[in-house]
Formats: sequence, structure tokens, C-alpha cells
Amino acid sequence: MSRVAYVNGSFTPHLNAHVHIEDRGYQFADGVYEVCIVIDGRTYDFDGHYRRLERSLNELRMPAPMKRAPLEAVIRELLRRNRLRDALVYIQVTRGVAPRNHPFPPNGAEPVMVMTARRFNVSESDAKAAKGVKVISQPDIRWGRVDIKTVGLLPNVLAKQAAVEAGAAETFLVRDGVVTECSSSNAWIVDKSGVLITHPKGNHILGGITRETAIACAQELQLKVEERAFTLEEAKAATEAFMTSATSFVMPIVAIDDSRIGDGQPGPIAARLRNAYKNKACGN
Ligand code: PDD
Repeated sequence: MSRVAYVNGSFTPHLNAHVHIEDRGYQFADGVYEVCIVIDGRTYDFDGHYRRLERSLNELRMPAPMKRAPLEAVIRELLRRNRLRDALVYIQVTRGVAPRNHPFPPNGAEPVMVMTARRFNVSESDAKAAKGVKVISQPDIRWGRVDIKTVGLLPNVLAKQAAVEAGAAETFLVRDGVVTECSSSNAWIVDKSGVLITHPKGNHILGGITRETAIACAQELQLKVEERAFTLEEAKAATEAFMTSATSFVMPIVAIDDSRIGDGQPGPIAARLRNAYKNKACGN
């Protein structure tokens, strides 16, 4: 069965799906996106992803091309046409098509909305989580507004490629000695007294929706969470480390650069939080 994509109001074969060469997303990375996971037909944390999409659009003064209910209907139809129950859904909105010129198009432009869906394998993710993953560290060379989920991801791409080339799954990004987040996930550590630590929200991290739900889960599990900056040295000395994102849920980290974390096995707190997250996010 061939894949189907959604492009500006139409469902079209994935192979033929295209946007114009003067789309501002293509020329200026002038666009935003969301990634959400659907398991058994239920979109995890959809409320949070929708609210963040609205916020990103708002920060870039772009009109929302669709309200929540029709967007959910498009996702459902996309999944139906692709015969998917477990899927990764990608939603992208760019400012639209206009003759190349840096300022916003003076007469506005129609936003261009694209959506794709592909199979997501939960068991593969669980198997990975059972072993834990390695990460490396690199300087955080991104711009000053990474809280907006824009498609301008070149530094993230380079950081992830460095991880792949080092046989790791992710990269801890370090700015002014502090671990901000990873190339496509939020970074967490657990200190010796069992306190969970993750960088506070602000302009230097993307406020992860998984991060938000994981904080709520931790509180329900009576675990203490501190949203504060932590150094790479602190991370390497932590008893546990993990990352969160829509696509990795809560993923235990067993090594950072050449330092083993804890006993080199996924930690019990990360494992509990992963379970709690999966139970909570499907109802959000
Ligand atoms: N990335 N930080 C960055 C830089 C990210 O790109 C992401 C998500 C996150 C976690 O956010 P959330 O929990 O809302 O997924 C943090 C997605 C998965 C991606 O780009 O594919």
C-alpha cells in the first residue's frame, strides 16, 4: 500500500506530495512543526502539542491554518488512509509562498500546512529503553529562541549526526558549562538523593511536552523535581540520566561521553517514569 500525505487541504500520494520552490520554509526555515505519537489510535499528549503549535505560530506572527478539532480530524483521516494505528505524525506549517525577500510578505501569504504519518514501533522503543542508550556532548551552537519549535534545525542535525558517528543515540548540548537539552529531546539527571533535575524552561530549551507530562508523573510518584541548570560534570556524576521526547518517551541514558552513569544499566527511576508517562500521555 502506498503512503499518503496531507498537503494544504488535500490527501495526496506521498511520492507526488510537493510544495513550491519559493516556500519560505524551504528558503528561510520560516516555519514551525510538531511531532506526535499515536498508539493504538490515540494521540499522546495531543493537547500539549496543539497548544505548543499555537504558541510557536504566535511567536512568529503566523496565522493558525487550522483549529484543534479540524486538525485532529485531518490526523485521523491521514492515519485511516495510511492504515496506521501506531504512528509518528509530523505536522509542519510554513509562512507560505512568496517571492524571495527577507521581510514577511507585505500582503501576507497563505500558510502551507503539510502532514505525514509513518509507522511507529513501540516494542522497538521499549527494547531500546530496556538496554539504555549512550549520549555524547557537544557545544550548543543554536540561536537564542530555541523555545520556538521552528524547522531551522541545522545545529540539531549536526549534533545528532555527531552522535550517530560516535555510536551514540543523542547529544547533550552544553552552553556556558550547562547542559541545556539534547538535539531532539530534553535532558534529565537524578542526583544522589533521588532528586530529578532538568533545565528550566526559557529561551535556551524547547519546552518539551513529554518533559511537562513527565514532571506531572514524577510528582504523582512522589519524586522531587528541580527545574534548574546542571553542568556536564554533574551529569557524569549522576546516579541516573535520561531524556524525554515524543518519540523516545522516557529513555534511560547509561553513558555520557566516556563516563558510565550509575552501574551502566538503566536506572529504576527512569524505568518507573517511562511506565507512568506511557499511562498518562495516552489520556492527555
Ligand atoms: N523533537 N528539545 C528539542 C530540541 C526537540 O526537538 C524536541 C522534540 C524536544 C522534546 O519535545 P517533545 O517532548 O515535545 O517531543 C526537546 C521532536 C521529537 C523531533 O524534532 O523529531
